[in-house]
Amino acid sequence: MPEADNNLDAKNYGIGIPQVPETMLMKGLNELDWGMKDRLARIFNRMSGHTVMLAFDHGYIMGPTSGLERMDLTIVPLIPYADCLMCTRGALRQIVPPTCNKPISLRASAGSTILTELNDECLLSMEECLRLNASMVAVMVAIGSRFEALTVRNLTTMVDQGSRYNVPVLGVTAVGKELVRDARYLSLATRVCAENGAHVIKTYYCESGFEKVTAACPVPIVIAGGKKLPEREALQMAYEAIDQGAAGVDMGRNVFQADCPTAMLQAVRRVVHDGERPEKAYEMYRQMRG
Ligand code: 5RP
Repeated sequence: MPEADNNLDAKNYGIGIPQVPETMLMKGLNELDWGMKDRLARIFNRMSGHTVMLAFDHGYIMGPTSGLERMDLTIVPLIPYADCLMCTRGALRQIVPPTCNKPISLRASAGSTILTELNDECLLSMEECLRLNASMVAVMVAIGSRFEALTVRNLTTMVDQGSRYNVPVLGVTAVGKELVRDARYLSLATRVCAENGAHVIKTYYCESGFEKVTAACPVPIVIAGGKKLPEREALQMAYEAIDQGAAGVDMGRNVFQADCPTAMLQAVRRVVHDGERPEKAYEMYRQMRG
């Protein structure tokens, strides 16, 4: 406890040196409160401003997806190479070691599966998300589907609760057979998520006009990988997405279904954080795969 008497005089005031406020590297997020920024800073690399998230939440709609049958065997070895883990609360408690110290983007909406109609979802409580020390909560938003209003309401509910406890919300633009993944739809869906308060948006890459999708979205976008592609093509997609304004990837199948998932995740990192060209990243992947 500091003593009241006989302390050294305070004299190091740095007169003439302006106090420089540190700003977030990510667009649209500078005005948030400290706790919110602290959580986001765990997810996004301070130097590159980008993130490599590893998504393995597929089981909540698809059951034992290829590559996720035994997450203790396939996902746990990948954890050291990811900046953030995107998963359900079940997977988190069942297989993610708390000692791994990785920020969690917790899937916080769920409801229907591929056996019925996707996106008819309800929410986890914010209390549960806080109990699990989530750094971000992910909510599906199905713009243009029958469940549009329900899922936008889910998003705004989570944004309200997240604002209360400084937990950022990831708006996940929905998958669905009837939803076309072109720039027009993706611009609309991502912008709607941002305008309704999502702090980060997860969406798909599209080959034509993706730079317009990122330009019109006032907060960072991370891309999902989608169905498994040849590794070279997946690295190309990641490169183009970053080059056209994405702030990172939130990839699942293109990592854990790769021939060598640890090599693939490291190659993706080189593209996302170092701007490595896809052909060089692929060469690196081949060498690491052996
Ligand atoms: C589904 C999700 C998944 O996490 C997402 O699709 C990422 O995985 P993949 O790269 O395999 O597409 O949010 O709702």
